[in-house]
Amino acid sequence: MKKRIGIVGCGNIARIHAQVLTQMDNVHLSALADCELEKAAELNALFADNTASVYPSLEDMLQNEPLDAVHICTPHFLHVPMAVQALQKNISVFMEKPPAISRAQFADLQTAAAQSKGRIGICFQNRYNLTTLKVDELLKNGCLGNILGARAFVSWCRDEAYYTKSGWRGKLATEGGGALINQSIHTLDLLVHWLGHCDLVNSSLSNHHLKEVTEVEDSLDVYMKFGNKTACFYATTAYVTDAPVLIDIECQNGHIRLEKDTVSCTYANGGHEEYFLRQEAKKGGRTYWGNGHEACIHDFYRCLFSGEKYQNDLESVRETFDLVMKIYKK
Ligand SMILES: NC(=O)c1ccc[n+]([C@@H]2O[C@H](COP(=O)([O-])OP(=O)(O)OC[C@H]3O[C@@H](n4cnc5c(N)ncnc54)[C@H](O)[C@@H]3O)[C@@H](O)[C@H]2O)c1
Repeated sequence: MKKRIGIVGCGNIARIHAQVLTQMDNVHLSALADCELEKAAELNALFADNTASVYPSLEDMLQNEPLDAVHICTPHFLHVPMAVQALQKNISVFMEKPPAISRAQFADLQTAAAQSKGRIGICFQNRYNLTTLKVDELLKNGCLGNILGARAFVSWCRDEAYYTKSGWRGKLATEGGGALINQSIHTLDLLVHWLGHCDLVNSSLSNHHLKEVTEVEDSLDVYMKFGNKTACFYATTAYVTDAPVLIDIECQNGHIRLEKDTVSCTYANGGHEEYFLRQEAKKGGRTYWGNGHEACIHDFYRCLFSGEKYQNDLESVRETFDLVMKIYKK
């Protein structure tokens, strides 16, 4: 039987979710909720041939629709309270990043998840990028030896209009932070994925270019130790364009570079391999976000149907979330 799905928050990113869901055979996009009802109606017309019911709030949607899962695509501060509402009704939740904006919220989510029959998936879609999978494979095959360290750069552009046109971005209470918790969290998550547990963090956060407009950081530099591995991380949204993310992983016998669609591997013995791994962006998707939404959502439902553990579950993001809090000195 098809799973009945609802989306709450019908803005930018909801389009990708709606597009993926309406192309799947085993789910039905049944309901859309947004406090600006016309946004729900627009999404309905664009992707669901107006077959979904539209609601002005999550509460109305949950009261009127027997849903199996809800996709949460609202501003950051609402992720946890909305996920808790759904989980308390034993409805599964697929939630956009970040998983929470405070340690207290994350604890609430853990409690709600432990008491619910519903399951949680977090949209860290870059874990599904072909480039990520290639790096996983290169590290696993053992030729490079142990990881010594890594560096990562995220240089994107978020201008004044990005903040002034939005009711929630740029404010600590609703976004919870800036360049880290919103834009570069995916790259930090990949570092955690490859390096493991971080036990030492030194960070500096600044707001260089929009001091008068936002309360959140536009730039950060972080020095981290993951056991005996060292990582340097720099992220900014004060650049002039959305440049491809760059990640270098230095190993005993060579290094890996991930940049845009390419993973290259240079061995200490002079060998060099390059893999071009292109993944088409979905309509409206932006390549610099990573293009893994489709794979990430498909895998969530594969696990929901089969009962298998989903790789992007709440436990799998705990370490990254903890590191975000440590970088913010919270
Ligand atoms: N995974 C990624 O790479 C990625 C990319 C972009 C955005 N996102 C995440 O998606 C989320 C939404 O971002 P966006 O760019 O789509 O924002 P947006 O502002 O375009 O959309 C948010 C929507 O939520 C609605 N909303 C706000 N409060 C609501 C409420 N109480 N009830 C119902 N609806 C409400 C708004 O009206 C709006 O339509 C954020 O958490 C963001 O970080 C993730």
